[in-house]
Amino acid sequence: MAGCCDPGGYRSVFGPGEARRSLNSFRRKGLDSTARPMVEALRPGITGATLLEVGAGTGAAEVELLQAGAEMATWVDISPDYMDAAHDLASEAGVHDRIERHVGDFVGMAGDIDSADVVFLNRVVCCYPDMPALVSAVAGHSLDRIALSYPRDRWWVRLGAGALNRFLRWRKVSFQVFIHDPAAIDGHLRTAGYEPSETGHTPVWHWSIWKRSEPASGD
Ligand SMILES: C[S@@+](CC[C@H](N)C(=O)[O-])C[C@H]1O[C@@H](n2cnc3c(N)ncnc32)[C@H](O)[C@@H]1O
Repeated sequence: MAGCCDPGGYRSVFGPGEARRSLNSFRRKGLDSTARPMVEALRPGITGATLLEVGAGTGAAEVELLQAGAEMATWVDISPDYMDAAHDLASEAGVHDRIERHVGDFVGMAGDIDSADVVFLNRVVCCYPDMPALVSAVAGHSLDRIALSYPRDRWWVRLGAGALNRFLRWRKVSFQVFIHDPAAIDGHLRTAGYEPSETGHTPVWHWSIWKRSEPASGD
């Protein structure tokens, strides 16, 4: 694994306790309501594909894609605790030897990470202040498809995020949630040459699969 750091107070939120809770939740209930449809949408054509997951968390979604026939995966997460939990899950699933893990901010380390056929990021864009930098780095690392989810721009989502951010500030935690403009996120992907192929939503989250309209050049 690469070296680690903790910009933005990530470890206060995505520390060992939360990593274990997330792992146990997957063991009990399976994938969450955004990861599940994204994995199902990616399943056709996944055999032999290479994967990259940004903000991988426990890596549960890509464990399922590896079990479905993907060749190998690279996982990046700022939280070393999540990457430890991800290692445990990958070992249990017997796919650990097909995974490369990196701890750090993907935006800062993107130049050291190889592109992959499928880039996956579930509930990550809202954890990062510089949305254009993150989405551009992601777009530059996909050879074929991107699966991502982000919070919907609805009053109840903004209310919840505002309350959570006030609570975090009161607890002196520097981490904050960001409700980035969905149209701006989609605009960055379109400008980078992707078109949405499948989309869906829950009351809080919007998810989508984006496909390159032109094959990646020079990768
Ligand atoms: C809400 S959690 C979601 C984890 C996982 N994707 C899931 O759906 O269970 C967001 C994760 O993104 C990671 N993260 C946020 N911004 C990141 C970045 N720029 N580079 C790498 N990881 C990032 C955080 O450390 C955290 O583990």
